[in-house]
Amino acid sequence: MEEFTKKKRFNLQEFENTFSNNRQKIKPTENLDTNYNIHTGRPFSQKYFDILEKRMTLPAWEAKEHLKKLLDENQVIILQGETGSGKTTQVPQFLVDFGFTQNKKGIACTQPRRVAAMSVARRVAEEMDVKLGEEVGYSIRFEDCFTNKTFLKYLTDGMLLREAITDPLLNK
Ligand SMILES: Nc1ncnc2c1ncn2[C@@H]1O[C@H](COP(=O)(O)OP(=O)(O)O)[C@@H](O)[C@H]1O
Ligand SMILES: [Mg+2]
Repeated sequence: MEEFTKKKRFNLQEFENTFSNNRQKIKPTENLDTNYNIHTGRPFSQKYFDILEKRMTLPAWEAKEHLKKLLDENQVIILQGETGSGKTTQVPQFLVDFGFTQNKKGIACTQPRRVAAMSVARRVAEEMDVKLGEEVGYSIRFEDCFTNKTFLKYLTDGMLLREAITDPLLNK
């Protein structure tokens, strides 16, 4: 029980100083070693690297390694960061990098508005160099854009609740 309720507060700003000196040590993604996209088996496009360069300047990247450690040690974490720091677009991709989508598991990221879920999914698919609706998709009322191979899904709170009806423990 104690395990379950253990929480840690994490402030992105607070760790910025610690990690800004370590930036060069942070591996952008496991993917980069091969130049092949492990999700599609295809070589990365030039656009992928162009976007990656910009992504890596986002504050979320400075917290990547520390986030990994916190996730290893805690069941629940609260991550706080400024608007535009990369919480929505970067952190779910970090989770993919860390292996959270292995064994057919999926990552759900809720957004307050339908449009936000849709547009952020489009952006993340672009960042990951995959086709929207395949590895990365979205689910909003009256519109599903995912398949059974989708492992990162952006959705509204309402749609997550709907999923909880068929999968109450959110096993997936
Ligand atoms: N559609 C987009 N096109 C270009 N850049 C984008 C797009 N969406 C987000 N970004 C960039 O990604 C950064 C991180 O956005 P986001 O992950 O939504 O931040 P947060 O969720 O922390 O507010 C933004 O600062 C912005 O520069
Ligand atoms: Mg956000």
